[in-house]
Amino acid sequence: MAAKTPKRYPETKVLSRNFDVDKAWTFDVARQRGAYRSLEKALGSMTPDQVIDEVKTSRLRGRGGAGFPTGVKWSFVPKQTDKTKYICLNADESEPGTFKDRYLMELDPHLVIEGCLITAYAVGASMVYIYVRGEYPLSIERLWGAIEEARKEGFVGKKIAGRDFHCDVVVHSGAGAYICGEETALLESLEGKRGHPRIKPPFPAVEGAFASPTVINNVETLAHVPWIIENGGAAFAKQGIPPDPADPRSVGSSGTKLMGVSGDVQKPGVWEFEFGITLRQMIEDYAGGALEGRTIKAVIPGGLSMPVLTGDELDVKMGFDDLKAAGSGLGTACAIVMDDTCDMVQACENIAHFFADESCGQCTPCREGCHWMEKIFHRFDAGQGTRSDLDLLENLFRQIEGRTICALADAAVWPLRSIVRKFRHEFVAKMSPDEQRAEAEARSARQPAGVK
Ligand SMILES: Cc1cc2nc3c(=O)[nH]c(=O)nc-3n(C[C@H](O)[C@H](O)[C@H](O)COP(=O)(O)O)c2cc1C
Ligand code: SF4
Repeated sequence: MAAKTPKRYPETKVLSRNFDVDKAWTFDVARQRGAYRSLEKALGSMTPDQVIDEVKTSRLRGRGGAGFPTGVKWSFVPKQTDKTKYICLNADESEPGTFKDRYLMELDPHLVIEGCLITAYAVGASMVYIYVRGEYPLSIERLWGAIEEARKEGFVGKKIAGRDFHCDVVVHSGAGAYICGEETALLESLEGKRGHPRIKPPFPAVEGAFASPTVINNVETLAHVPWIIENGGAAFAKQGIPPDPADPRSVGSSGTKLMGVSGDVQKPGVWEFEFGITLRQMIEDYAGGALEGRTIKAVIPGGLSMPVLTGDELDVKMGFDDLKAAGSGLGTACAIVMDDTCDMVQACENIAHFFADESCGQCTPCREGCHWMEKIFHRFDAGQGTRSDLDLLENLFRQIEGRTICALADAAVWPLRSIVRKFRHEFVAKMSPDEQRAEAEARSARQPAGVK
């Protein structure tokens, strides 16, 4: 965890309760701190359906980016099937600026394994795959170590905790492709194929790994499950931001979240908060604010794949609905901060390059579009961009968004479009004098009479 700073917002330790405990990744220490008690409780006194109901009551939403209600996802897994059911834990953590799941896997791997096993019990799965990005060697080592310890102690394998529940757990290491964090690309990769996303439906809950029912969840999502089973879904639902009573479809943002800050701040780090802390509180009170003598120009609140907020838009609560209403999104809740030295044209070129490089190439709008965008941004940076290039970019954003197999292409459009719109002046500043004059004329023509 990051260095201690004066705190103004209560930290609630659900996931991070063992982060500061010496050797909490070993079975003995973890067990003393309560590891596998929730699993024993679930196996000993709850039916699988009761476990699912408890998670539904908690209103836990996926922590991998999309925020889908976890209990609802589990209930899509067919109960009657001859096929083996699987749990795939998405530990690819490939989103730029995001390094929260890593804390859980390195510092509390038994919590992660326990969450997976309770999930397996709830949906009737007998095999757990933990798909970890290859660049996380310590996570892989700690998870394997914990699996072997848990197996020795009777918590992995046959007759878990002496009950009639059998489930194995293995770690599968990825080869470092961003796209393999997308759930169906992850499944392809797990099966030994190229990480190409699949067309949905069928959804993994019905047809996932090896064409069998599969629950895919993020590491942090399933790490919440032991606490929910121990304390009850209602206690979890009391934390964070409640549903909006004016919106019958709102489920709010319940519980706590590992949130991070990186980029142009004094003390980058990861902390656990209940939903509801503002982006500004997190950046200023915990990450130490902007670097000496600098001001914050822009922030992407959750990884790279969300629309940018300007330095004036930071008083928004960290929550699924609040950030959406502010024109952005929670994403991974790991914010990337850019200060006034950041050249937004170059930032766009960099972002477009990342997505062009990571595109799997199956869909034309993504494969071609990300490269086009990168080339256009490069043109601007070289002083050759024009006003019609800005129109062309808007056209590209429209032609890419929502027209591809997976959300990687949307994830490219969202930050880029918001930067082009909110920082248009930086693009104009790099145009030729003639183009700048034309832009100024067009602007004054757009303004109502009398406005200077
Ligand atoms: C390009 C792309 C990359 C993704 N990378 C990750 C990732 O690294 N980790 C993750 O948990 N989810 C990632 N996701 C989201 C997953 O597809 C999926 O929604 C998530 O694992 C579901 O788990 P949750 O419901 O617990 O959030 C990615 C999605 C896309 C489109
Ligand atoms: S959107 Fe991009 S990454 Fe996703 S399937 Fe299509 S080409 Fe591949």
